Amino acid sequence: MDVELLARGDGHAHGPVVLPPAEERTEKVLRGPAKTTGPVMDKIRIRGGRPLNGTIAIGGAKNAALPLMAASLLTDQKLTLTNVPELADIETLLRLLEQHGVEMSRENRRLDLTGSEIISTTAPYELVRKMRASVLVLGPILARAHQAKVSLPGGCAIGARPVDLHLKALTQMGADITVEQGYIEAQAKNGLRGAHIVFPQVSVGATENILLAATLAEGETILENAAREPEISDLAHCLIAMGAQIEGVGSDRLTITGVKALHGTTHAIMPDRIEAGTYAIATAITGGTVELEGARLDHIDALAHKMREAGVTIDERNGGVFVNRANRDLIGVDAMTEPFPGFPTDLQAQFMALMTRAKGASMLTETIFENRFMHVPELQRMGANINLHGSSAMVRGVGKLTGAPVMASDLRASASLVIAALAAEGETEIARVYHLDRGYECLEQKLTGVGAEVERVGD
Ligand code: UD1
Repeated sequence: MDVELLARGDGHAHGPVVLPPAEERTEKVLRGPAKTTGPVMDKIRIRGGRPLNGTIAIGGAKNAALPLMAASLLTDQKLTLTNVPELADIETLLRLLEQHGVEMSRENRRLDLTGSEIISTTAPYELVRKMRASVLVLGPILARAHQAKVSLPGGCAIGARPVDLHLKALTQMGADITVEQGYIEAQAKNGLRGAHIVFPQVSVGATENILLAATLAEGETILENAAREPEISDLAHCLIAMGAQIEGVGSDRLTITGVKALHGTTHAIMPDRIEAGTYAIATAITGGTVELEGARLDHIDALAHKMREAGVTIDERNGGVFVNRANRDLIGVDAMTEPFPGFPTDLQAQFMALMTRAKGASMLTETIFENRFMHVPELQRMGANINLHGSSAMVRGVGKLTGAPVMASDLRASASLVIAALAAEGETEIARVYHLDRGYECLEQKLTGVGAEVERVGD
């Protein structure tokens, strides 16, 4: 077994998420993804060739939930989040918040988080290494407790992914930061103060971390070239409901005026646009008709635009998104990943799977992460014709894909293999399913519900 890969995990997580025995969990709290998280070596078996037809309910967004959960560290009052997805990454952050002193209870999709007191300002390596987004606790803890020690998340399969932008911005806000023995040690004896920060590069995580920290800093913080992903607006709206003063929400210039304290609120997490995009693509590759209940078309505009060019019908219907490609050929189109509102890097692998079955060629260019083509050799094993040229992949459509044993390497790459498998002739077995469990809730159930032949099997 490839121990190195297993230990490093993927783009966001750094190892398989293994839930501890039930008795070690807080009552009612860490009731993890009951059906989706299985033993590490589970596989997903898919028999392809059946068009998806019906309705798929889209869950709450993982990438919105994580920074929103970190916001609980900013107040001693209760933050209630609803529409919380049941995913391994959520469990990982809960475990980290718990050791910082956040009390929690969870019932169905509702999560109560109360950080009455921060009992530990250290985020240890054992927890941070499992998921890069853990670094989002740095800004809130530093803002509230004036000191924080957070393990460096390290590199990962899809790229180096440093946190220099987070650290530079916090330094501008008055923090003394050193990096020693794998830990970021940050101190702001008199608290953080507002600053004018111009990000040299768009970063979702850095924008979120600094936005969180700035809510409690003294004075005004201006963030320029801020990321504009819908998850950031979701976070900002929740922070405003907690008493934060934020202007420019949805734009690349955020102005935050620090306040002395934030209070509790209840916030419904936005729908997961990457989950929606993944199922939209899955529907298209199988030539089916699916309604994505609860999805927002304006969140996946760039994808919808490319899918229409490729011959797929995708529009808003009944408050969700309707996708159809019955009786029409797919056409190859080019796409390049960009920060929002551009084409999301988190849908590049899935879109590539779609393009393997299109008529003609498609050039897909990745501009966000340097090593995000790990799905390519696996798709090739299923018969795809793909040539890599640096950060671009030339995909020439083929008449058919064939089922094969393949290996998931990161969250979104795994999703692309599922999509290819749904359209392939015969059976595909995808190993290392724990990657999928980090970001897709009840994947087998959702796909089976629209007519796919999917099952999870033990090793
Ligand atoms: C978030 C998403 C991830 C998505 C990515 C880009 C979450 C939990 N994860 O990741 O799913 O793929 O946005 O849309 O929301 N960078 C630096 N220095 C930094 C920070 C980032 O060089 O300090 C670089 C990264 O290596 C990458 C690029 O900036 O090349 C964008 O990364 P960033 O937007 O920060 O991604 P994440 O927040 O990690």
